Amino acid sequence: MTEARHAFPVEGRAWDDLLADMRGRTSGDLDWKNGRTPLFVFRNDEETYEIGKKAFMEFFSENALGRERAFFSIGSMEKEVLDFGLSLFHAPTGAAGVFSTGGSESIFLAMKAARDAWRAKRGNGAAAVPLNIVIPITAHPAFDKAADAMDLEIRRGGLRADMRADPEALRPLIDDRTIAILGSAPCFPHGVVDPIEELSALAEDAGVWLHVDACVGGWMAPFFTKIGRPTPDFDFRYPGVRSISADLHKFGFCPKPASTVFYRDADDMERAKFVADAWPSGRFQTSTLAGTRPGGAVAASWAVLNHLGESGYCAAAERLGAMTDAYVEGIREIPGMKFWAKPDLTLINYGSDEFDIFHAAVEMYKRGWLPALTRRPRGLHAMMSLMHAPAREAFLKDLGEAVDIARTLEPGTSSIEAVYS
Ligand SMILES: Cc1ncc(COP(=O)(O)O)c(C=O)c1O
Repeated sequence: MTEARHAFPVEGRAWDDLLADMRGRTSGDLDWKNGRTPLFVFRNDEETYEIGKKAFMEFFSENALGRERAFFSIGSMEKEVLDFGLSLFHAPTGAAGVFSTGGSESIFLAMKAARDAWRAKRGNGAAAVPLNIVIPITAHPAFDKAADAMDLEIRRGGLRADMRADPEALRPLIDDRTIAILGSAPCFPHGVVDPIEELSALAEDAGVWLHVDACVGGWMAPFFTKIGRPTPDFDFRYPGVRSISADLHKFGFCPKPASTVFYRDADDMERAKFVADAWPSGRFQTSTLAGTRPGGAVAASWAVLNHLGESGYCAAAERLGAMTDAYVEGIREIPGMKFWAKPDLTLINYGSDEFDIFHAAVEMYKRGWLPALTRRPRGLHAMMSLMHAPAREAFLKDLGEAVDIARTLEPGTSSIEAVYS
């Protein structure tokens, strides 16, 4: 069936009309501001949100592509943001970072760097050899995307009982065509940090690149540790770690699109640059996949990081930690409910051995909560941020009712499927 196509507007429309139209379209959206979505959006407090928004609008037109030749303001802010990240992740002298548009781009860039470093080491002729990456089953699909685009084979290894990557399951998958292995900090599905120290030893042993995907938790985990809720260390202090991806637009509380990728060695970043010199307009060179990038995202990240500072992120960590504990406690009080992993940050994953949690998910959806799901084990999932705090009581009440209904239904018969997009 062909869908009717919208005709290109003949006449222009005034702002008031457009605004009313746009706002009207949100009537069917889930109420994310009041914690009804377990993913997609992150929030600290109103002040941080407003500062990010104002800083973004201040540099709304500037293009970060031109930061070295036109928008020196953007260039200087970008450098500061990257320096903050290098310090946060204990990067040694000689390390370098790149500001990108999101976790998927950061991961793509790190994998390209790893591939190009592998080729540089092997010399001429190595390019044609089929290469692979060795990753835990919990790795984000951004690795599949990078592998698809760069013709890499993906080899996925299993987990330990605590849902962290098992280095011994990855070890036999590594061969002389492996360009990189991976650990997440934390992984998206179960919210736990992989054993980066052991993966670092494995990487050194095998002579391969270790990438740490700290996209979701990287800009927050160090502050959990600082306030005395230790999350496992994951950064450049482990010598095998060669690159780290960390998103500002998740638990850095910066406006989208904003992510960072760091390389232990600036040569890796140099090598992985995209350089084209054949066209009439001269040499074109970027460290990112994107060409044009929003200057607003750089300015907003700079403003949010400077607004919060270490004390602001520690305060956020305190509030996030307390809120997550309260949710975990409330969920545990529902009979039959079980956590599939002990959360290292604020990503929670839980289900039951007594009833099919997917039935409860259907009931939650009927009550206006978007359920995020894991398939193996069958579970509900959420990335808790501060907009979830006021929703806790209503959530737990509805979850209790949803579970009562789930208990009456045949396991494996719900219509819902685990999807993430
Ligand atoms: C662990 C992890 N890596 C990578 C990504 C991809 O990030 P993005 O959606 O910004 O591309 C995500 C997104 O949730 C993630 O949780």
